[in-house]
Amino acid sequence: MNSASSRIRSQVGIIGAGPAGLMLSHLLHLQGIDSVVVEARSRQYCEERVRAGLLEQGTVDLLVESGIGERLKREGLVHFGIKLRFEGRTHRIDFKELAGGRGVTIYPQQKVLQDLFNARLNAGGRIFFDAATVTLEGIAPSRGEKPAIHFRSDGAAYELACDFIAGCDGFHGVSRPSIRAGALSVFQTNYPFGWLGILAETPPSSDELIYAHHDRGFALLTMRSPQLSRLYLQCEPDDDVKNWPDARIWEELQSRLASKGWVLTEGPIIQKGITPMSSFVVEPMQFGNLFLAGDAAHIVPPTGAKGLNLAVADVQVLAPALVEFYASGKRGLLDQYSEKCLRRVWKVQRFSWWMTAMLHLFKADNAFDRRRQLAELNYVTSSRAAAQTLAENYVGLPLD
Ligand code: FAD
Ligand code: DHB
Repeated sequence: MNSASSRIRSQVGIIGAGPAGLMLSHLLHLQGIDSVVVEARSRQYCEERVRAGLLEQGTVDLLVESGIGERLKREGLVHFGIKLRFEGRTHRIDFKELAGGRGVTIYPQQKVLQDLFNARLNAGGRIFFDAATVTLEGIAPSRGEKPAIHFRSDGAAYELACDFIAGCDGFHGVSRPSIRAGALSVFQTNYPFGWLGILAETPPSSDELIYAHHDRGFALLTMRSPQLSRLYLQCEPDDDVKNWPDARIWEELQSRLASKGWVLTEGPIIQKGITPMSSFVVEPMQFGNLFLAGDAAHIVPPTGAKGLNLAVADVQVLAPALVEFYASGKRGLLDQYSEKCLRRVWKVQRFSWWMTAMLHLFKADNAFDRRRQLAELNYVTSSRAAAQTLAENYVGLPLD
């Protein structure tokens, strides 16, 4: 231990206050297990960062059942269908009919985080913000050392001693690179495009999401509230928002989303950002006393909105495993953590890749590919079995 460090202790040390880290801390607290969260950014930054917005039924159920669903029940917009638009026509996929009455809810990631921060801090939970020089030690299975997280926060140095570390620090965090080289296998594919996302102060022009296949590239209409629209456009992977003045964005959205008799209402754009797209998985998702969850272990392309939901599903596996350990001293569920999560992760990877491949214009695209995509869209919108496959994956597969 560095002699200048203050030594603190918790049963579980969590790196990262995103959906995975905060939800894990919340679920553990409900079971009487103590955790400390170490976050590189400020609370304000975490609560304002514009990201995901669509919650699967299982994510909604978890938020409600764990006691933080009050605002979600009031403000969440529940959807029982989506629209696929191609060749100027619009087809609805009906979740009520095809997904056993399950639906999805539009509720922004920032609000999920605000609700989780409030719950944790009101319950006396310990969260260190603006943490710098975060390092991990004692995770190797064979060395017999106890895990610890070292970091600086508010001008002081800390050593957080714990039994287990949850690496919930996203794709660019320190947890995954702390695992010794060769212990993890990486599976990755990149896409030759990104998404430009905007928030616009205008009521959504459709009461349901519209996924549009178009010769100029993919577009998506979604929303954040009855007054706020969120829209996405396929763009170049290394594009810069500077290339996208507001007028160009609306012009492109108007042509890609066009449909006879339907009007896309424009409004002031209050936020713009570009997200690169890749599919990424590490196996296994655990090493010794370190457990990776969420984007630290896997990334999906955004089509189908699975990133946040997958992060929450991971900690729904990790929390009971830790509960079992503290109740009985057994590592049975902990040892199965990665295997259990990866079964779901790969199904979700498959779905996100399939939605992406069906709807986007690929660089090396050719007439054959475009015909194949249209055949896929025609099939999905005409075969009940194909539509059901989309619907049940979209609302979220059950935890197995
Ligand atoms: P994160 O939310 O990334 O949280 C990780 C946390 O760890 C962050 O707060 C970070 O500051 C912190 N951290 C990082 N490094 C360290 C460190 N060294 N020490 C301490 N803390 C650290 N998904 C969708 O479903 N739909 C979308 O529309 C969508 N849009 C997105 C747009 C963008 C720009 C991005 C980046 C992602 C988007 N996603 C979307 C994905 C979704 O937001 C993520 O899958 C989700 O946030 C994953 O949660 P997480 O808790 O695993 O990781
Ligand atoms: C949203 C994002 C997605 O990637 C998607 O497929 C559906 C909705 C959203 O931000 O609302």
